[in-house]
Amino acid sequence: MPERSELVSLRCQVNGRPVVAEVEPRLSLADFLRQHLELTGTHLGCEQGVCGACNVLLDGQLVRSCLLLAAQADGLEVVTVEGIGGPGGQLSRLQQAFLDQHGLQCGFCTPGMLLAAEALLRENPKPSRDEVVHAISGVICRCTGYTDIVDAILAARGGQ
Ligand code: FES
Ligand code: FES
Repeated sequence: MPERSELVSLRCQVNGRPVVAEVEPRLSLADFLRQHLELTGTHLGCEQGVCGACNVLLDGQLVRSCLLLAAQADGLEVVTVEGIGGPGGQLSRLQQAFLDQHGLQCGFCTPGMLLAAEALLRENPKPSRDEVVHAISGVICRCTGYTDIVDAILAARGGQ
């Protein structure tokens, strides 16, 4: 256990809730979310910025949480896959579209895909197919062949 003097203070918003913590300076944002806040919907695949499984929104920007330190979220707003549902715990339009269009199989890539799609649709509510393909190009899916994922995102357009 590190000495308290070795810890850094962190204050941020996570999925709309204030979070105050003391963390190791080297702790990644992904590990902070998963281990300290038990938000295990943020997946870890490669842990080197390649697969996109760890995508979250940081002040609205899509980021790979394995490449950021938790301390870098100080003063900022983090949104994870647990924070993009509909009201009352219902599926959002985007999540429902993934279900309806068979946009997932094993589900490992799904949080990263959803966050990439969420970031796209917030910025561009009516993306073209090419824009959707480009937006998810940083997330690796081993199962689906991507077509159903793209169809799901296209089906969710305009409803964010
Ligand atoms: S786990 Fe972060 S990009 Fe793969
Ligand atoms: S659904 Fe299995 S990796 Fe994408």
